[in-house]
Parts: sequence; structure tokens; C-alpha cells
Amino acid sequence: MDRISDDSIVDHIEDVFRRRGAESYLGEEVTIAQHMLQTAQCAEQAGADNSQIVAALLHDIGHYKNEIPETSLAKGVDNFHEEAGANFLEDYFPLSVVEPIRQHVAAKRYLCAVKSDYSERLSPASVHTLNLQGGPMNAEEVEEFEKNNYLEQCIQLRYWDEDGKDPERKHPPFSYYRPLIESLVKR
Ligand SMILES: [Fe+2]
Repeated sequence: MDRISDDSIVDHIEDVFRRRGAESYLGEEVTIAQHMLQTAQCAEQAGADNSQIVAALLHDIGHYKNEIPETSLAKGVDNFHEEAGANFLEDYFPLSVVEPIRQHVAAKRYLCAVKSDYSERLSPASVHTLNLQGGPMNAEEVEEFEKNNYLEQCIQLRYWDEDGKDPERKHPPFSYYRPLIESLVKR
């Protein structure tokens, strides 16, 4: 896939939600689209700013690896979903959107290290992936992570990520968030 222009990036994202959104989300009871829309809703209900809401909405887009242009994937080392998503979105969105997305797996490892009861919030599937992702951070990794300029945003996204997995929860459609995404595209 070729690079996507700034003018068509939001159309592309909407198209991905429409065509691929119903796919199941790695052992969760919600689809990937439900999960991302609910995560955005959690952010909005918590009074988050626009960057945080859009970060929440797009944080797992990297699961759709074949919807991401080669030029973005070529930047990555192993292209785990958080890296693939961030390397794709950084061409279009500010760091305040991209950095929490890049760090949302690291934030889980961080929170499990610094909050003894954090793992109780994780879904069974997320506990399983935590182990594959390296488990809780060690002291050195925690120290390094805390230097992030968007530390607070990274942590908050992670909380909403945990909460956006409820099959019964009603949430707005993608179209509700579209103007917000448009407003943050760097041009
Ligand atoms: Fe997620």
C-alpha cells in the first residue's frame, strides 16, 4: 500500500473501521471497533482533551497491519501493534496523540510494576499478553518510562483501554468522532 495523503487519512481510518471493525479482538468479548470506540468514550466521559480522545479511539489501529502502508511498517523493528500504529499515525497526528498509543503496552507493564493491584483490572486476555510482552517492568524500565513527556496521558489511556471491553456498553458510532479526528490532522 502506498503512502496515504493528509487529505485522505481520515477517510482511510473510517474505511478501516467499517471494513475491519467487526473482527474479534484477541479473546475479548468485544470487537476491535467496539473496543476502540468504548475506549474513546471512556476518555471523553473522564473529561479528557481532544488529543487523548483521538489517541483512545485509534490506539489499537496497529492490529490491522495490512491497512498500514509499507513505508510506515519499514520504520519498525518488530512491528508489534503499538509500534506499527504509532509509526503510521505519526505522519498525520501530533505527539500528544501518537505517544500514548506508542506506549500503551509499556504503560500496562509499568502500571503492573508500580501498582500491586493493577493486574486485577486486566482482562484474562490482557493478562495473557502481558506475559508475552515481558511482564511487569523492572526498576530500571520504570525509571526510564517515567521520563516520558506524556507520562500522564500514557497512564490514562491505559486505564480507559482496560475499561473499554464491555460487550453490553452502548457507545457512539465512528461518525461521532470524525470531526475530532479531522481537527487534529497536521497539515
Ligand atoms: Fe486496547
